[in-house]
Amino acid sequence: MEKIHSQLAQHPQAVLFDAYGTLLDVYSVGLLAEQLFPGQGSTLSVLWRDKQIEYTRLVTTSNHGAHYQPFWELTRAGLRYACKRLKLVLSPEHEAQLMNQYRHLSAFPENKAVLQALKARGIVTGILSNGDPDMLGIAVRSAGLEGLLDHVISVDAVRLYKTAPEAYALGEQATGLKASQIAFVSCNSWDALAATWYGYPTLWVNRYQLPFEELGTQPTRTGSTLTDVLGFFESV
Ligand code: LAC
Repeated sequence: MEKIHSQLAQHPQAVLFDAYGTLLDVYSVGLLAEQLFPGQGSTLSVLWRDKQIEYTRLVTTSNHGAHYQPFWELTRAGLRYACKRLKLVLSPEHEAQLMNQYRHLSAFPENKAVLQALKARGIVTGILSNGDPDMLGIAVRSAGLEGLLDHVISVDAVRLYKTAPEAYALGEQATGLKASQIAFVSCNSWDALAATWYGYPTLWVNRYQLPFEELGTQPTRTGSTLTDVLGFFESV
């Protein structure tokens, strides 16, 4: 009995998911990009994503966040940069089409069942994302995840992007739990690393068989799909 109690005490009471790259497939825009720019779709989608994330860091670490712009605007800026870098002419129509596609990214197929399994266990669920509230609202609705998420938390509330501690702290504030009681799930290795540093037990979902960051800290768990989050609760 004592053993069961101590095991229960160790299980997270909430699970927070990263959104872009974790619940939503950011590379699904590659298909449309390929139609618009044959032969360049995949390169464009990778460069676009990398630049978008680089811009989040640039605006968060410069002048104490004074240059903050919502994620939607950084996403657009990243697209414009990536096209220029690849010498692709981005017409206003193509930009509108690609940005619209970004609003409706494909969700990974296992999302719903995993969230349902967590809810069935009475676990608090949520998103903690760089995405701004409008983007997240549309994404949650298009993926049919309403009703399965107790919290949809955007870093827009603090105008600082992950990996700023103020951004990760929003998870504790929204749930009223300590970081040690909340599992944080991300496919982005840098996000899983920083969340671990912050104090969350973490699951890194390594969808693309990539190496983890080489900075001396490992995530609490590593998996290959979101379903692996259920490993936190196996002994319940
Ligand atoms: C997010 C970015 C990291 O959703 O993809 O927060």
